[in-house]
Amino acid sequence: MALWGGRFTSGSSNLFRQVNDSLPFDHVMAVEDMTGSIVWSQALLSVGVLTEHEQQQIETTLNNFIARVEAGELDMSDSEEEDIHSVVEAMLTDKLGDIGRKLHTGRSRNDQVATDFRLWCRGHAKQLQQDLTHLTDALLKAAARHQQAILPGYTHLQRAQPILWPHWCLAYVEMFKRDLSRLEDAVIRMNQCPLGSGALAGTTYQVNRERIATDLGFSQPCLNSLDAVSDRDFVLELLFCASTSMMHISRMAEDLIFYNTGEAGFMQLGDAVTSGSSLMPQKKNPDALELMRGKCGRVFGHLQALLVTMKGLPLAYNKDMQEDKEGVMDAVTQWHICLRIAADVLDSAELNVARCREAAQQGYSNATELADYLVGKGIPFRTAHDITGQLVVEAIEKGCALEHLPLSAMQAVCNKIDDDVYAVLALEYGISKRCALGGTSQETVNEALYRELEKRDRSGD
Ligand code: ARG
Repeated sequence: MALWGGRFTSGSSNLFRQVNDSLPFDHVMAVEDMTGSIVWSQALLSVGVLTEHEQQQIETTLNNFIARVEAGELDMSDSEEEDIHSVVEAMLTDKLGDIGRKLHTGRSRNDQVATDFRLWCRGHAKQLQQDLTHLTDALLKAAARHQQAILPGYTHLQRAQPILWPHWCLAYVEMFKRDLSRLEDAVIRMNQCPLGSGALAGTTYQVNRERIATDLGFSQPCLNSLDAVSDRDFVLELLFCASTSMMHISRMAEDLIFYNTGEAGFMQLGDAVTSGSSLMPQKKNPDALELMRGKCGRVFGHLQALLVTMKGLPLAYNKDMQEDKEGVMDAVTQWHICLRIAADVLDSAELNVARCREAAQQGYSNATELADYLVGKGIPFRTAHDITGQLVVEAIEKGCALEHLPLSAMQAVCNKIDDDVYAVLALEYGISKRCALGGTSQETVNEALYRELEKRDRSGD
């Protein structure tokens, strides 16, 4: 029986039930709903709506439900009720009769659902914070495994300048660290309590909202009842955090897909995260990485969908807002899985250090070093750039690397070039020059890596 049946003479149509019922997806907030209800019953005790005995009965019964849900013994989705709030109240009333029917005094499903969902999002944010740390750990481990490996760095997917493998890993560590801090920041605003705001105008009972907030682990109560029941910014922020992080995951996936190609041959992915072809026996496809890239679409879609749902909604609650849940529930699940499997992929990857080095040596990625060398000989950079370009053309025509051009050929283009040029053209040289903070020299990269490893060890204590 619906919570609002009194004013109605006939029941809902089946089609209406299909569009209106949220139990199929909001049942996952059962524990949050019951936890909120326990704290609300304590608030009702404090204002004399419930006796001590009645409150005790409610609290014991709800705690019992929570234990059964957590043990997997109680399936809250298996009910005729329209949403999780109705199911919990119906079950309580079933057990306690009129005592259960008192619980909703001074409360509305509007402040109730806003509270439940904030609790749900907060709990999942905590899990995702751990997932992000797990992934940065995997990147640090991958970096530490091959601290001296050199691979080509790209712009426009053209070999640009050589970099160290740990430099690549640490680039993604920076991104996932930002994702973590963005999520922590979102949790600060999420962690405010709507309960006690009533349907929209506030509750008529003199409950202590600070106390309610504290008891539910919130940092403070929402300060305006109209805003408290209407606001879904916390969901949007979580979706934005998920979207940005999925974008980072997809870029990492794309790099790794390329590194794993036969053409690049920089790494081999493990069997556990790849699959074969039903037709072509030789294939080992990077499916996990492709799915990380592919799942971005739906996560970004969920952010866009909720923005559009919320746009132009009048204050306060509107049923449109029930559409806030399925998208973020899916986004959070996909984000969680992708963060975890990204770590597995990195753990499984075997870097082909020799092949990486060979590729870094090709593609004229030491041309910048030659231009800088000429600058060192007093030639203006623009002219140096031009001379180097001519030498690159000559090397391409001869089918050799810059460092394999004979000195005489180089001197024919520029007489300032001496045989000290060959040291400059060596692979390690270009790397070692990039020792300003944030660069790819062995020493700056080691420093950055040890700084991160130390931070990780300290936080693990
Ligand atoms: N199932 C609803 C939701 O998720 C609960 C709130 C219903 N409130 C209302 N005024 N009908 O939004």
